[in-house]
Amino acid sequence: MKKKEIEKEYKKKIQKLIKLNKFYYEKNSPIVDDREYDTLKNDILKLESKHSYLKSKNSPSKIVGFKPSKNFKKISHRVPMLSLANAFDQDDLNNFEKKIMNYLNQKDYSEIEYSAEPKIDGISASLSFKNGKFINGLSRGDGKEGEDITENLKTINDIPQTILSKDFPSEIDIRGEIFIQNYDFKKLAGKFANPRNAASGSLRHKNPLETKKIPLKFIAYTFGYEKGLNIKKQSEFLKKLKEWGFKTNPLNKTIKGIKNLMKNYKDIENKRGSLDFDIDGIVYKINDLNLQRRLGNIANAPRWAVAHKFSANNGISKIENIEIQIGRTGALTPVAKIKPINIGGVVVSNATLHNEEEIIRKDIRVGDTVLIERAGDVIPHVISVDLKLRDNESKKFMFPLNCPSCGSKTVKEYNIMTKKEDAVRRCTSEGFECEKIAIEKIKHFVSKEAFNIEGFGKKIVENFWKLNLIRLPQDIFRLDYSAIENLDGWGKQSVNNLKYSIDTKKTISFERFIFALGIRHIGLENAKLISKNLSSIKNFLLLSETKRFNDLINIDGIGETQINSIKSFFSNSTNLRVLKDLCGLIKVKNAILAKSNGIFINKTFMLTGKLDGISRAEAKSLIEENSGSIISNVSKKLDYLIIGEKPTKRKIDAAKDLNIKILSQTEWLNMLNKTS
Ligand code: IVH
Repeated sequence: MKKKEIEKEYKKKIQKLIKLNKFYYEKNSPIVDDREYDTLKNDILKLESKHSYLKSKNSPSKIVGFKPSKNFKKISHRVPMLSLANAFDQDDLNNFEKKIMNYLNQKDYSEIEYSAEPKIDGISASLSFKNGKFINGLSRGDGKEGEDITENLKTINDIPQTILSKDFPSEIDIRGEIFIQNYDFKKLAGKFANPRNAASGSLRHKNPLETKKIPLKFIAYTFGYEKGLNIKKQSEFLKKLKEWGFKTNPLNKTIKGIKNLMKNYKDIENKRGSLDFDIDGIVYKINDLNLQRRLGNIANAPRWAVAHKFSANNGISKIENIEIQIGRTGALTPVAKIKPINIGGVVVSNATLHNEEEIIRKDIRVGDTVLIERAGDVIPHVISVDLKLRDNESKKFMFPLNCPSCGSKTVKEYNIMTKKEDAVRRCTSEGFECEKIAIEKIKHFVSKEAFNIEGFGKKIVENFWKLNLIRLPQDIFRLDYSAIENLDGWGKQSVNNLKYSIDTKKTISFERFIFALGIRHIGLENAKLISKNLSSIKNFLLLSETKRFNDLINIDGIGETQINSIKSFFSNSTNLRVLKDLCGLIKVKNAILAKSNGIFINKTFMLTGKLDGISRAEAKSLIEENSGSIISNVSKKLDYLIIGEKPTKRKIDAAKDLNIKILSQTEWLNMLNKTS
């Protein structure tokens, strides 16, 4: 196809997507099923990755979620409306709890109490009350600003217009879910695709009289902005909500321990079909509001809550083949190629088998009939094998002991943290020497959080690799553009676009640069820590000469695993060549510490010894949130040394010598309290 025709086809698809989105999000009555919608989205993405000149601000690669519709006035939420992280099984819950415990530096797991609240699948809304009067109500929108749907909300009987209770806060945003009961949904006879769409559609009618016709319900579960709310626990808040005249979920419970959460989950999942409203999981919130405050948020979700989703969709299919994929860090991941099936509107043809152990444990073989689960956005996986349908001739799957890409030996490493052998088998070749690893490393290098080279997608990396245009990351900055121009699917304009994308990324922050190198165990967070500590690429390069890797141990958050990984990175001559070449082609900016106006502005801290009831990570966040910074050496630059239990004497002596102020944990926390 010619370029013009491709562009025309692309535009047509984008126009169709805009139309479908309008019907789905604004009119709440989808005109095609999920499968057709997903196919269209995929077609657009495929076209974009094949032809990098195709761009549209309405592309599904650009639009996430949906903006408030134009019909209503937009108003900012005084406190953002966050979303929730998902958990799908007990392992996820254990991890969730472990992270919290680490953050809080708490050991007694049995003590943690949760508010377990069935998650109604409706539309969330935030209702502002002032002096007991309902003032206005907003939809969630994009979490930062919502639509003013006050008039429509006023038609809902469950929302009290005036609250006279003495202990009702003078100002508060009450948040909860608007939904329609299944019984009422059925009466609407086919007007909407599902109860959620029905709720969303009626709630956002231009004419509130139309909303009034639909029996919408409201249950309350949290608050946003507040003034004068005096409670200590989420369960207490839920009780108060009832006293104030709001409806709450009758299945809410307070529960201690993951085991009991699982029991409750199963009970409720069994009841799910007989409830008169749709629930898609259970929300667990740390019950103690003080702990919630300490835990805070990561990105746009609270650290103190998680949504335990019900297994969304299952389907039965046959395994046609088992392939081994090789990741950027050499991990060998088995993937089942299955006979394509439609699970919940999405066509599934791959299912991850996780690792060798999983295959052995479930005895998964090529030819087996299996139950596949697709839950949320995670990759579908095999739940179980139907042994009755197994072919007599079938043979156990033999996991390869050599890398299928480069033939190197594979190993299961010993994990010093868990003191166990890893479940994952890895290729032992040195990174770029294995073709598959090298390709994955380059994909990582150009990816969003690394160099973020727009239009340089995974398909292009694979294609350029095949054509021998790239072998190492630095090749990206010395591409032969005239050769690319003559390739199938490329032209002058698309090559210019690519060149522009690459050229604009020739200056990069130090932390992104470190992350882009794809050193094992150095994710974005660790890259940030290292960049702050070393502050410039020059110091990073010096590591290869001075070999002072162990100095990095002074960085809070960097441990032995990370240091060993950095050492091994620098011991590889290809990596050194990559670094050297890159430095000649691009500019890496020095790290700058973000400053605002907190109480610790321009103040530096160092911690020594174990703190009581607060982890290092939390202490560090507290300091940084208040504009202070942490340094790792006692020097004249240090303002305060905070000492915990069993501090290092050497550090205290050095601080005394330099007249540095020494603080106990309490003294330090008191400094913070003065601000509130
Ligand atoms: S708390 C701060 N509690 O789930 C955390 N949310 O994915 C978010 N939801 O947009 C709010 N039941 O629509 C909370 N008991 C409950 C909930 C609940 C349903 C929805 C809500 C939110 C979404 C987050």
